[in-house]
Amino acid sequence: MASSSRALSLLAFTLLLLAVLSTVSGHNITQILSESPEYSSFNSYLSQTKLADEINSRTTITLLVLNNGAMSSLAGKHPLSVVKNALSLLVLLDYYDPVKLHKISQGTTLTTTLYQTTGNAPGNLGFVNITDLKGGKVGFGSAAPGSKLASTYTKLVKQIPYNISVLEIDAPIIAPGILTAPAPSADGLNNITGLLEKAGCKTFANLLVTSGVLKTYVSTVEKGLTVFAPSDEAFKAEGVPDLTKLTQAEVVSLLEYHALAEYKPKGSLKTNKEAISTLATNGAGKYDLTTSTSGDEVILHTGIGPSRLADTVGDETPVVIFTVDQVLLPTELFGKSPAPAPAPEPVSGPTPSPAKSPSPAEAPSPVAASPPAPPVDDSPEGAPSDSPTSSEDSNAKNAAFHVSASAYVTTVLVTLAATSLLL
Ligand SMILES: *[C@@H]1O[C@H](CO)[C@@H](O)[C@H](O)[C@H]1NC(C)=O
Ligand SMILES: *[C@@H]1O[C@H](CO)[C@@H](O)[C@H](O)[C@H]1NC(C)=O
Ligand SMILES: *[C@@H]1O[C@H](CO)[C@@H](O)[C@H](O)[C@H]1NC(C)=O
Ligand SMILES: *[C@@H]1O[C@H](CO)[C@@H](O)[C@H](O)[C@H]1NC(C)=O
Repeated sequence: MASSSRALSLLAFTLLLLAVLSTVSGHNITQILSESPEYSSFNSYLSQTKLADEINSRTTITLLVLNNGAMSSLAGKHPLSVVKNALSLLVLLDYYDPVKLHKISQGTTLTTTLYQTTGNAPGNLGFVNITDLKGGKVGFGSAAPGSKLASTYTKLVKQIPYNISVLEIDAPIIAPGILTAPAPSADGLNNITGLLEKAGCKTFANLLVTSGVLKTYVSTVEKGLTVFAPSDEAFKAEGVPDLTKLTQAEVVSLLEYHALAEYKPKGSLKTNKEAISTLATNGAGKYDLTTSTSGDEVILHTGIGPSRLADTVGDETPVVIFTVDQVLLPTELFGKSPAPAPAPEPVSGPTPSPAKSPSPAEAPSPVAASPPAPPVDDSPEGAPSDSPTSSEDSNAKNAAFHVSASAYVTTVLVTLAATSLLL
Protein backbone atom coordinates (compact mmCIF):
# COMPACT_ATOMS: atom_id res chain seq x y z
CA MET A 1 0.00 0.00 0.00
CA ALA A 2 2.54 2.52 1.17
CA SER A 3 5.13 1.39 -1.31
CA SER A 4 2.74 1.52 -4.25
CA SER A 5 1.70 5.07 -3.42
CA ARG A 6 5.36 5.92 -3.11
CA ALA A 7 5.95 4.44 -6.55
CA LEU A 8 3.09 6.55 -7.88
CA SER A 9 4.56 9.65 -6.32
CA LEU A 10 7.90 8.87 -7.91
CA LEU A 11 6.22 8.36 -11.25
CA ALA A 12 4.42 11.69 -10.90
CA PHE A 13 7.68 13.34 -9.97
CA THR A 14 9.44 11.85 -12.99
CA LEU A 15 6.64 13.01 -15.27
CA LEU A 16 6.86 16.49 -13.77
CA LEU A 17 10.58 16.53 -14.39
CA LEU A 18 10.09 15.42 -17.98
CA ALA A 19 7.46 18.11 -18.47
CA VAL A 20 9.87 20.71 -17.14
CA LEU A 21 12.73 19.49 -19.29
CA SER A 22 10.66 19.27 -22.44
CA THR A 23 9.92 22.99 -22.36
CA VAL A 24 13.60 23.88 -22.37
CA SER A 25 14.25 24.67 -26.00
CA GLY A 26 17.99 24.90 -25.78
CA HIS A 27 18.39 28.24 -27.55
CA ASN A 28 19.18 31.54 -25.89
CA ILE A 29 18.39 34.39 -28.26
CA THR A 30 20.16 36.95 -26.08
CA GLN A 31 23.32 34.87 -26.38
CA ILE A 32 22.89 34.35 -30.15
CA LEU A 33 22.47 38.06 -30.89
CA SER A 34 25.18 39.18 -28.49
CA GLU A 35 27.70 37.70 -30.93
CA SER A 36 26.86 40.51 -33.39
CA PRO A 37 27.18 44.07 -32.05
CA GLU A 38 25.08 45.40 -34.96
CA TYR A 39 22.00 43.91 -33.25
CA SER A 40 22.71 45.37 -29.80
CA SER A 41 19.72 47.72 -29.84
CA PHE A 42 17.32 45.02 -31.02
CA ASN A 43 18.74 42.60 -28.47
CA SER A 44 18.36 45.09 -25.65
CA TYR A 45 14.70 45.63 -26.53
CA LEU A 46 14.10 41.86 -26.61
CA SER A 47 15.31 41.74 -23.01
CA GLN A 48 13.47 44.85 -21.80
CA THR A 49 10.16 43.65 -23.22
CA LYS A 50 10.81 40.05 -22.02
CA LEU A 51 10.26 38.87 -25.58
CA ALA A 52 13.59 37.04 -25.21
CA ASP A 53 11.99 34.68 -22.65
CA GLU A 54 9.02 34.10 -24.94
CA ILE A 55 11.37 33.29 -27.85
CA ASN A 56 13.47 30.97 -25.69
CA SER A 57 10.37 29.08 -24.60
CA ARG A 58 9.32 28.28 -28.17
CA THR A 59 10.60 26.14 -31.01
CA THR A 60 9.84 26.07 -34.75
CA ILE A 61 10.05 29.85 -34.96
CA THR A 62 11.73 32.48 -37.09
CA LEU A 63 12.97 35.76 -35.70
CA LEU A 64 13.37 38.65 -38.12
CA VAL A 65 16.02 40.97 -36.72
CA LEU A 66 16.89 44.59 -37.42
CA ASN A 67 20.37 46.04 -37.20
CA ASN A 68 20.96 49.17 -35.15
CA GLY A 69 20.33 51.43 -38.14
CA ALA A 70 16.99 49.83 -39.04
CA MET A 71 16.03 49.70 -35.36
CA SER A 72 16.49 53.46 -34.95
CA SER A 73 13.00 54.18 -36.31
CA LEU A 74 11.54 52.32 -33.31
CA ALA A 75 14.12 52.69 -30.54
CA GLY A 76 13.40 55.47 -28.10
CA LYS A 77 10.58 56.87 -30.25
CA HIS A 78 7.68 54.89 -28.80
CA PRO A 79 6.53 53.54 -25.45
CA LEU A 80 7.91 50.10 -24.57
CA SER A 81 4.47 48.52 -25.03
CA VAL A 82 4.35 49.77 -28.62
CA VAL A 83 7.89 48.58 -29.37
CA LYS A 84 6.93 45.21 -27.90
CA ASN A 85 3.99 44.90 -30.28
CA ALA A 86 6.15 45.90 -33.25
CA LEU A 87 8.82 43.35 -32.33
CA SER A 88 6.21 40.65 -31.65
CA LEU A 89 5.27 41.00 -35.32
CA LEU A 90 8.82 39.94 -36.20
CA VAL A 91 8.52 36.61 -34.37
CA LEU A 92 7.08 34.22 -36.97
CA LEU A 93 5.52 31.08 -35.52
CA ASP A 94 6.98 28.83 -38.20
CA TYR A 95 10.49 27.86 -39.25
CA TYR A 96 11.80 29.64 -42.35
CA ASP A 97 15.39 29.17 -43.34
CA PRO A 98 16.71 30.86 -46.52
CA VAL A 99 15.95 27.73 -48.59
CA LYS A 100 12.32 27.61 -47.46
CA LEU A 101 11.95 31.36 -48.02
CA HIS A 102 12.72 30.89 -51.69
CA LYS A 103 10.49 27.83 -52.03
CA ILE A 104 7.18 29.31 -50.88
CA SER A 105 4.40 27.70 -52.90
CA GLN A 106 2.77 30.16 -55.32
CA GLY A 107 5.53 32.57 -54.23
CA THR A 108 3.47 34.15 -51.46
CA THR A 109 2.10 33.17 -48.05
CA LEU A 110 0.71 34.56 -44.83
CA THR A 111 2.29 33.46 -41.56
CA THR A 112 1.17 33.88 -37.94
CA THR A 113 3.32 35.90 -35.58
CA LEU A 114 3.61 36.20 -31.83
CA TYR A 115 1.65 39.46 -32.09
CA GLN A 116 -1.40 37.49 -33.18
CA THR A 117 -1.30 35.44 -29.97
CA THR A 118 -1.30 38.47 -27.65
CA GLY A 119 -4.92 39.44 -28.08
CA ASN A 120 -3.74 42.98 -28.93
CA ALA A 121 -3.97 42.40 -32.67
CA PRO A 122 -7.38 43.07 -34.19
CA GLY A 123 -8.38 41.02 -37.26
CA ASN A 124 -5.42 39.67 -39.21
CA LEU A 125 -3.03 42.38 -38.09
CA GLY A 126 -0.92 39.73 -36.41
CA PHE A 127 -0.14 38.03 -39.73
CA VAL A 128 2.80 38.74 -41.97
CA ASN A 129 2.88 38.40 -45.76
CA ILE A 130 6.02 36.79 -47.14
CA THR A 131 6.43 37.08 -50.90
CA ASP A 132 9.19 35.71 -53.12
CA LEU A 133 9.84 38.69 -55.41
CA LYS A 134 11.45 38.67 -58.82
CA GLY A 135 15.24 38.61 -58.86
CA GLY A 136 15.65 36.45 -55.75
CA LYS A 137 14.46 39.12 -53.33
CA VAL A 138 12.07 38.15 -50.54
CA GLY A 139 9.69 40.84 -49.27
CA PHE A 140 7.82 41.05 -45.95
CA GLY A 141 4.81 43.17 -45.12
CA SER A 142 1.73 43.32 -42.94
CA ALA A 143 -1.07 41.01 -44.08
CA ALA A 144 -3.54 43.88 -43.76
CA PRO A 145 -5.06 44.68 -47.17
CA GLY A 146 -3.24 47.40 -49.04
CA SER A 147 0.01 47.04 -47.11
CA LYS A 148 3.30 47.31 -48.96
CA LEU A 149 6.02 44.69 -48.83
CA ALA A 150 8.29 47.30 -47.32
CA SER A 151 10.84 45.00 -45.65
CA THR A 152 13.36 42.89 -47.51
CA TYR A 153 15.36 39.85 -46.41
CA THR A 154 19.05 40.69 -46.25
CA LYS A 155 20.90 37.76 -44.65
CA LEU A 156 20.89 34.68 -42.49
CA VAL A 157 22.10 35.34 -38.95
CA LYS A 158 21.71 31.91 -37.36
CA GLN A 159 19.81 28.68 -37.88
CA ILE A 160 19.21 25.82 -35.48
CA PRO A 161 17.01 23.45 -37.54
CA TYR A 162 14.09 23.29 -36.89
CA ASN A 163 14.01 25.14 -33.61
CA ILE A 164 14.87 28.71 -34.53
CA SER A 165 15.96 30.61 -37.60
CA VAL A 166 17.25 34.16 -37.23
CA LEU A 167 17.05 36.26 -40.40
CA GLU A 168 17.96 39.90 -40.90
CA ILE A 169 15.52 42.21 -42.68
CA ASP A 170 16.18 45.83 -43.62
CA ALA A 171 13.17 47.58 -42.06
CA PRO A 172 10.49 46.95 -39.42
CA ILE A 173 7.16 45.47 -40.53
CA ILE A 174 4.52 48.02 -39.67
CA ALA A 175 0.93 46.82 -39.30
CA PRO A 176 -1.66 49.61 -39.62
CA GLY A 177 -2.17 51.36 -36.30
CA ILE A 178 0.56 49.45 -34.49
CA LEU A 179 2.68 52.54 -33.83
CA THR A 180 -0.23 54.83 -33.04
CA ALA A 181 -2.09 52.34 -30.84
CA PRO A 182 -3.58 54.14 -27.84
CA ALA A 183 -0.40 54.25 -25.82
CA PRO A 184 -1.22 53.04 -22.34
CA SER A 185 -0.88 55.81 -19.80
CA ALA A 186 2.48 56.19 -18.13
CA ASP A 187 1.00 53.94 -15.46
CA GLY A 188 0.68 50.97 -17.75
CA LEU A 189 -2.64 49.18 -17.68
CA ASN A 190 -5.53 51.39 -16.78
CA ASN A 191 -8.15 50.78 -14.13
CA ILE A 192 -6.91 47.52 -12.66
CA THR A 193 -10.05 46.93 -10.62
CA GLY A 194 -12.32 47.51 -13.62
CA LEU A 195 -10.32 44.97 -15.62
CA LEU A 196 -10.43 42.46 -12.78
CA GLU A 197 -14.20 42.76 -12.33
CA LYS A 198 -14.75 42.30 -16.02
CA ALA A 199 -12.54 39.19 -15.93
CA GLY A 200 -14.61 37.51 -13.22
CA CYS A 201 -12.42 38.48 -10.26
CA LYS A 202 -14.81 40.77 -8.40
CA THR A 203 -14.06 39.32 -4.94
CA PHE A 204 -10.36 39.92 -5.42
CA ALA A 205 -10.91 43.43 -6.81
CA ASN A 206 -13.11 44.37 -3.84
CA LEU A 207 -10.54 43.03 -1.37
CA LEU A 208 -7.80 45.09 -3.04
CA VAL A 209 -9.87 48.25 -2.63
CA THR A 210 -11.16 47.69 0.91
CA SER A 211 -7.76 46.62 2.25
CA GLY A 212 -5.90 49.48 0.59
CA VAL A 213 -3.49 47.02 -1.06
CA LEU A 214 -4.41 48.41 -4.48
CA LYS A 215 -2.28 51.43 -3.56
CA THR A 216 0.70 49.13 -3.01
CA TYR A 217 0.11 47.60 -6.44
CA VAL A 218 -0.12 51.01 -8.07
CA SER A 219 3.05 52.20 -6.33
CA THR A 220 5.14 49.58 -8.13
CA VAL A 221 3.65 50.00 -11.60
CA GLU A 222 6.57 52.06 -12.88
CA LYS A 223 9.07 49.37 -11.88
CA GLY A 224 6.84 46.61 -13.18
CA LEU A 225 3.80 44.77 -11.86
CA THR A 226 2.53 41.22 -12.29
CA VAL A 227 -0.84 40.32 -10.77
CA PHE A 228 -2.21 36.80 -10.16
CA ALA A 229 -5.93 37.37 -9.66
CA PRO A 230 -7.96 34.40 -8.34
CA SER A 231 -11.35 34.01 -9.98
CA ASP A 232 -14.51 34.41 -7.92
CA GLU A 233 -14.93 30.61 -8.09
CA ALA A 234 -11.47 30.19 -6.57
CA PHE A 235 -12.57 32.09 -3.46
CA LYS A 236 -15.55 29.75 -3.09
CA ALA A 237 -13.48 26.60 -3.49
CA GLU A 238 -13.26 24.12 -0.65
CA GLY A 239 -10.15 24.50 1.44
CA VAL A 240 -10.00 28.29 1.11
CA PRO A 241 -9.82 29.61 4.67
CA ASP A 242 -12.51 31.97 5.93
CA LEU A 243 -11.04 35.37 5.14
CA THR A 244 -13.18 37.10 7.75
CA LYS A 245 -11.19 35.16 10.37
CA LEU A 246 -7.91 36.73 9.25
CA THR A 247 -6.47 39.82 10.85
CA GLN A 248 -6.15 42.93 8.71
CA ALA A 249 -2.39 42.40 8.52
CA GLU A 250 -2.90 38.84 7.29
CA VAL A 251 -5.34 39.94 4.60
CA VAL A 252 -2.77 42.48 3.44
CA SER A 253 -0.05 39.82 3.27
CA LEU A 254 -2.37 37.45 1.42
CA LEU A 255 -3.22 40.09 -1.20
CA GLU A 256 0.38 41.23 -1.53
CA TYR A 257 1.28 37.59 -2.09
CA HIS A 258 -0.76 37.74 -5.32
CA ALA A 259 1.52 40.25 -7.07
CA LEU A 260 5.15 40.76 -8.06
CA ALA A 261 7.02 44.05 -8.22
CA GLU A 262 8.33 43.14 -11.68
CA TYR A 263 7.04 42.51 -15.18
CA LYS A 264 6.81 38.74 -15.74
CA PRO A 265 4.65 37.90 -18.75
CA LYS A 266 3.80 34.28 -19.49
CA GLY A 267 6.98 33.53 -21.48
CA SER A 268 9.07 34.64 -18.51
CA LEU A 269 7.07 32.47 -16.11
CA LYS A 270 7.51 29.53 -18.49
CA THR A 271 11.28 29.87 -18.51
CA ASN A 272 11.54 30.74 -14.80
CA LYS A 273 13.53 28.32 -12.69
CA GLU A 274 13.88 30.21 -9.44
CA ALA A 275 11.74 31.06 -6.46
CA ILE A 276 10.00 34.36 -7.17
CA SER A 277 9.62 37.10 -4.56
CA THR A 278 6.16 38.61 -4.20
CA LEU A 279 5.06 41.97 -2.82
CA ALA A 280 4.56 40.19 0.51
CA THR A 281 8.16 38.96 0.64
CA ASN A 282 9.77 40.39 3.76
CA GLY A 283 12.92 38.33 3.98
CA ALA A 284 14.89 35.71 2.07
CA GLY A 285 12.67 32.81 1.08
CA LYS A 286 9.57 34.30 2.71
CA TYR A 287 6.26 34.51 0.89
CA ASP A 288 7.75 33.35 -2.38
CA LEU A 289 6.38 31.27 -5.24
CA THR A 290 7.80 28.65 -7.54
CA THR A 291 6.64 27.71 -11.02
CA SER A 292 6.39 24.65 -13.20
CA THR A 293 5.07 24.10 -16.68
CA SER A 294 2.92 21.45 -18.28
CA GLY A 295 2.83 21.83 -22.03
CA ASP A 296 1.87 25.46 -22.60
CA GLU A 297 0.50 25.85 -19.07
CA VAL A 298 2.17 27.56 -16.16
CA ILE A 299 1.46 26.31 -12.63
CA LEU A 300 2.28 28.36 -9.56
CA HIS A 301 3.26 26.60 -6.34
CA THR A 302 2.96 28.13 -2.91
CA GLY A 303 4.09 25.15 -0.90
CA ILE A 304 0.48 24.42 0.06
CA GLY A 305 -1.22 23.95 -3.28
CA PRO A 306 -0.87 24.48 -7.01
CA SER A 307 -2.71 27.16 -8.95
CA ARG A 308 -2.98 27.21 -12.70
CA LEU A 309 -2.43 30.39 -14.70
CA ALA A 310 -5.74 30.72 -16.55
CA ASP A 311 -5.87 33.83 -18.71
CA THR A 312 -3.94 36.95 -19.47
CA VAL A 313 -6.37 39.75 -18.70
CA GLY A 314 -3.98 42.42 -19.87
CA ASP A 315 -0.33 42.67 -20.90
CA GLU A 316 1.03 46.12 -21.55
CA THR A 317 4.67 46.38 -20.67
CA PRO A 318 5.50 46.81 -17.77
CA VAL A 319 2.18 45.58 -16.33
CA VAL A 320 0.67 42.14 -16.78
CA ILE A 321 -2.48 40.77 -15.14
CA PHE A 322 -3.35 37.07 -15.06
CA THR A 323 -6.27 35.15 -13.65
CA VAL A 324 -5.45 32.03 -11.63
CA ASP A 325 -7.81 29.19 -10.76
CA GLN A 326 -6.90 28.81 -7.06
CA VAL A 327 -6.27 31.33 -4.31
CA LEU A 328 -2.53 31.39 -3.59
CA LEU A 329 -2.09 30.30 0.03
CA PRO A 330 1.34 31.13 1.45
CA THR A 331 2.77 28.64 3.96
CA GLU A 332 3.70 31.61 6.15
CA LEU A 333 -0.03 32.18 6.81
CA PHE A 334 -1.60 28.81 6.23
CA GLY A 335 1.15 26.30 6.88
CA LYS A 336 -0.30 26.35 10.41
CA SER A 337 -3.83 26.80 11.60
CA PRO A 338 -5.05 30.12 10.24
CA ALA A 339 -6.44 31.06 13.64
CA PRO A 340 -6.00 34.81 14.00
CA ALA A 341 -2.61 34.58 15.59
CA PRO A 342 -0.97 38.01 15.62
CA ALA A 343 2.46 36.73 14.55
CA PRO A 344 2.27 35.33 11.04
CA GLU A 345 5.99 34.75 10.69
CA PRO A 346 7.50 31.64 12.30
CA VAL A 347 7.22 28.70 9.98
CA SER A 348 10.13 26.36 10.24
CA GLY A 349 9.07 24.02 7.48
CA PRO A 350 11.04 23.27 4.36
CA THR A 351 11.22 26.17 1.95
CA PRO A 352 9.34 25.38 -1.22
CA SER A 353 11.67 24.55 -4.05
CA PRO A 354 11.05 24.09 -7.77
CA ALA A 355 11.75 20.37 -7.65
CA LYS A 356 9.18 19.09 -5.23
CA SER A 357 9.95 16.22 -2.93
CA PRO A 358 8.06 13.11 -3.96
CA SER A 359 6.83 12.78 -0.41
CA PRO A 360 3.06 13.23 -0.31
CA ALA A 361 3.19 15.48 2.74
CA GLU A 362 4.85 18.68 1.67
CA ALA A 363 4.08 21.19 4.36
CA PRO A 364 4.80 20.22 7.94
CA SER A 365 1.21 20.73 8.98
CA PRO A 366 -1.29 21.49 6.25
CA VAL A 367 -4.19 23.82 6.94
CA ALA A 368 -5.86 22.47 10.01
CA ALA A 369 -8.94 24.64 10.06
CA SER A 370 -10.79 23.39 7.01
CA PRO A 371 -11.73 19.69 6.91
CA PRO A 372 -10.96 19.07 3.21
CA ALA A 373 -7.19 19.09 3.39
CA PRO A 374 -5.54 21.26 0.77
CA PRO A 375 -4.06 19.56 -2.25
CA VAL A 376 -0.66 17.97 -2.22
CA ASP A 377 1.54 20.18 -4.27
CA ASP A 378 3.73 17.71 -6.03
CA SER A 379 2.35 17.47 -9.52
CA PRO A 380 0.94 19.85 -12.11
CA GLU A 381 -1.97 17.47 -12.36
CA GLY A 382 -2.82 18.20 -8.74
CA ALA A 383 -5.03 21.17 -9.50
CA PRO A 384 -7.82 19.53 -11.47
CA SER A 385 -8.11 16.55 -9.16
CA ASP A 386 -8.32 18.31 -5.84
CA SER A 387 -11.46 20.30 -6.48
CA PRO A 388 -12.93 19.03 -9.71
CA THR A 389 -16.12 21.08 -9.79
CA SER A 390 -14.70 24.44 -8.93
CA SER A 391 -11.80 24.20 -11.31
CA GLU A 392 -14.01 22.94 -14.13
CA ASP A 393 -16.35 25.84 -13.57
CA SER A 394 -13.57 28.32 -13.60
CA ASN A 395 -12.07 26.84 -16.75
CA ALA A 396 -15.34 27.22 -18.58
CA LYS A 397 -15.75 30.70 -17.23
CA ASN A 398 -12.22 31.63 -18.17
CA ALA A 399 -12.66 30.36 -21.67
CA ALA A 400 -15.81 32.42 -21.94
CA PHE A 401 -14.39 35.73 -20.81
CA HIS A 402 -11.08 35.36 -22.52
CA VAL A 403 -12.06 37.11 -25.72
CA SER A 404 -14.04 39.92 -24.21
CA ALA A 405 -11.37 40.56 -21.60
CA SER A 406 -8.64 41.05 -24.16
CA ALA A 407 -10.84 43.33 -26.22
CA TYR A 408 -11.58 45.23 -23.05
CA VAL A 409 -7.93 45.93 -22.37
CA THR A 410 -7.76 48.02 -25.49
CA THR A 411 -10.86 50.02 -24.71
CA VAL A 412 -10.60 50.91 -21.03
CA LEU A 413 -9.15 54.36 -20.74
CA VAL A 414 -9.48 55.39 -17.15
CA THR A 415 -6.18 55.98 -15.51
CA LEU A 416 -4.77 54.19 -12.53
CA ALA A 417 -4.08 57.56 -11.04
CA ALA A 418 -7.79 58.26 -11.09
CA THR A 419 -8.45 54.94 -9.42
CA SER A 420 -6.07 55.66 -6.63
CA LEU A 421 -7.46 59.16 -6.13
CA LEU A 422 -10.89 57.71 -5.54
CA LEU A 423 -9.67 55.58 -2.67
C1 LIG B 1 15.68 21.97 -30.22
O1 LIG B 1 14.62 21.99 -29.25
C2 LIG B 1 14.49 20.78 -28.52
C3 LIG B 1 13.32 20.93 -27.60
O2 LIG B 1 12.15 21.06 -28.33
C4 LIG B 1 15.76 20.50 -27.75
O3 LIG B 1 15.65 19.27 -27.08
C5 LIG B 1 16.93 20.45 -28.69
O4 LIG B 1 18.13 20.32 -27.96
C6 LIG B 1 17.00 21.71 -29.54
N1 LIG B 1 18.04 21.57 -30.52
C7 LIG B 1 19.11 22.33 -30.53
C8 LIG B 1 20.11 22.03 -31.60
O5 LIG B 1 19.27 23.24 -29.73
C1 LIG C 1 21.23 33.84 -22.11
O1 LIG C 1 22.43 34.49 -22.42
C2 LIG C 1 22.64 35.70 -21.72
C3 LIG C 1 23.88 36.37 -22.29
O2 LIG C 1 24.90 35.46 -22.49
C4 LIG C 1 22.75 35.39 -20.24
O3 LIG C 1 22.95 36.59 -19.51
C5 LIG C 1 21.45 34.74 -19.79
O4 LIG C 1 21.53 34.37 -18.43
C6 LIG C 1 21.14 33.52 -20.63
N1 LIG C 1 19.81 33.08 -20.31
C7 LIG C 1 19.53 31.83 -20.01
C8 LIG C 1 18.10 31.51 -19.74
O5 LIG C 1 20.39 30.97 -19.96
C1 LIG D 1 1.06 39.46 -50.21
O1 LIG D 1 1.15 40.79 -50.71
C2 LIG D 1 1.23 40.87 -52.12
C3 LIG D 1 1.48 42.33 -52.49
O2 LIG D 1 0.55 43.16 -51.85
C4 LIG D 1 -0.08 40.33 -52.71
O3 LIG D 1 0.00 40.37 -54.13
C5 LIG D 1 -0.24 38.89 -52.27
O4 LIG D 1 -1.49 38.38 -52.72
C6 LIG D 1 -0.21 38.80 -50.74
N1 LIG D 1 -0.16 37.39 -50.37
C7 LIG D 1 -1.18 36.81 -49.72
C8 LIG D 1 -1.00 35.35 -49.44
O5 LIG D 1 -2.16 37.42 -49.34
C1 LIG E 1 -13.02 51.12 -13.60
O1 LIG E 1 -13.85 50.27 -14.36
C2 LIG E 1 -15.08 49.92 -13.70
C3 LIG E 1 -15.77 48.85 -14.52
O2 LIG E 1 -15.82 49.17 -15.86
C4 LIG E 1 -15.90 51.19 -13.52
O3 LIG E 1 -17.12 50.86 -12.89
C5 LIG E 1 -15.11 52.16 -12.68
O4 LIG E 1 -15.82 53.37 -12.57
C6 LIG E 1 -13.74 52.43 -13.29
N1 LIG E 1 -12.90 53.18 -12.36
C7 LIG E 1 -12.79 54.49 -12.42
C8 LIG E 1 -11.82 55.10 -11.47
O5 LIG E 1 -13.42 55.16 -13.22
